[in-house]
Amino acid sequence: MSRIPILILGGTGYVAGEALRLVLGHPQFEVAGILSDSQPGEPVAKSFPHLAPVLGDLRFVSEAEIMTLVATLPVSGVFAAAPHGVSAALIDRLLGAAEAAGTRPRVVDISADHRYPTAEAYAAVYKHPHGAPARLAEFSCAVPEHLSAAPTPHIAHPGCFATATLLASVPLLAAGLVTPTLFVSGVTGSTGSGRKPVEGTHHPTRHSDLYSYNALVHRHIPEITACAAAATGVTADFAFVPHSGPFARGIHATVQATLTRPADTAAVLAALRTFYADSPFVRVTDGAPRIKDIVGSNYATLSAAANGRTVVVMCAIDNLTKGAAGGAMQWMNRLLGLPETTGLTHSATGWT
Ligand SMILES: NC(=O)c1ccc[n+]([C@@H]2O[C@H](COP(=O)([O-])OP(=O)(O)OC[C@H]3O[C@@H](n4cnc5c(N)ncnc54)[C@H](OP(=O)(O)O)[C@@H]3O)[C@@H](O)[C@H]2O)c1
Repeated sequence: MSRIPILILGGTGYVAGEALRLVLGHPQFEVAGILSDSQPGEPVAKSFPHLAPVLGDLRFVSEAEIMTLVATLPVSGVFAAAPHGVSAALIDRLLGAAEAAGTRPRVVDISADHRYPTAEAYAAVYKHPHGAPARLAEFSCAVPEHLSAAPTPHIAHPGCFATATLLASVPLLAAGLVTPTLFVSGVTGSTGSGRKPVEGTHHPTRHSDLYSYNALVHRHIPEITACAAAATGVTADFAFVPHSGPFARGIHATVQATLTRPADTAAVLAALRTFYADSPFVRVTDGAPRIKDIVGSNYATLSAAANGRTVVVMCAIDNLTKGAAGGAMQWMNRLLGLPETTGLTHSATGWT
């Protein structure tokens, strides 16, 4: 079987680099083009030296070249990893070029641009108009574990904090185990802020430190609320406090809530295991999830404890993999008719 050509947008960024790493290791995908606005024609290995042994002389392409590729390839997969506010218009131009040529790309947008059903809902959170409102109906937003098949031609992947929070919360809400107010504390590594160093996300600022930011007002809260409601039918309140952690990759989320009926730790762990019985990338463990055990992989580790009326569920994921490029690849596999695990089952490296 010939390989399916893949296009990557957002070229020199961290998530595009992770998508590239996963595509290069995928048995049925091949890189057809990786777009860089800032470095077309430059060797990709210059931006991603860790991938140099498997890149050959792959070079970034321009937007014009990507448009030609999408119009020439009868079927392709597109990972969109451009910034929010840029992604929607770029995808719109790309889908327009495909429609004019009669080709069929499938897009997974990893940015926030297609996570909301309406342009108004998007603008309320991101404070600028949506770049291509007419395309919103072509996208659905969910983590793959919470929607068994794509109801639309394209998918928007939830953000990394949202992924970890949803994986921990949705089983509790779906089973009616908790009252619908959840308290979430999330700690992210510095790659969550992207490649460009700015004050507040720069390594010397974050290294050896731990601090919260945007407490109770982080822009992932409406996205978490909407995705949890879509998955469970329950509109819950999420009181979310993000933190900067002193590491590069990984997210650890701690979700606390009040049980609707008494349950012990074993019962909550059993409920999580039942909920994720058919989810190959979610592992429920008795011991505490650790980011070192999942970094570089597409696995999520969940654990739980219950005491009196309080329940806590912890979740560890890699923000760049399960929370972005890996989750997106699960969706891409499904959109292109492959088992969702294809090219994604490698373990974490450990001791990263
Ligand atoms: N980092 C995470 O953990 C994470 C997790 C989930 C979702 N996401 C989302 O994934 C997307 C990429 O995130 P990232 O962390 O990879 O960001 P990043 O490291 O800042 O990379 C974004 C890339 O987009 C390209 N770009 C195109 N037009 C741009 C413009 N007008 N301004 C700035 N950059 C532009 C740039 O590459 P070229 O110049 O080469 O084109 C840039 O390197 C974002 O939408 C982000 O919200 C990130």
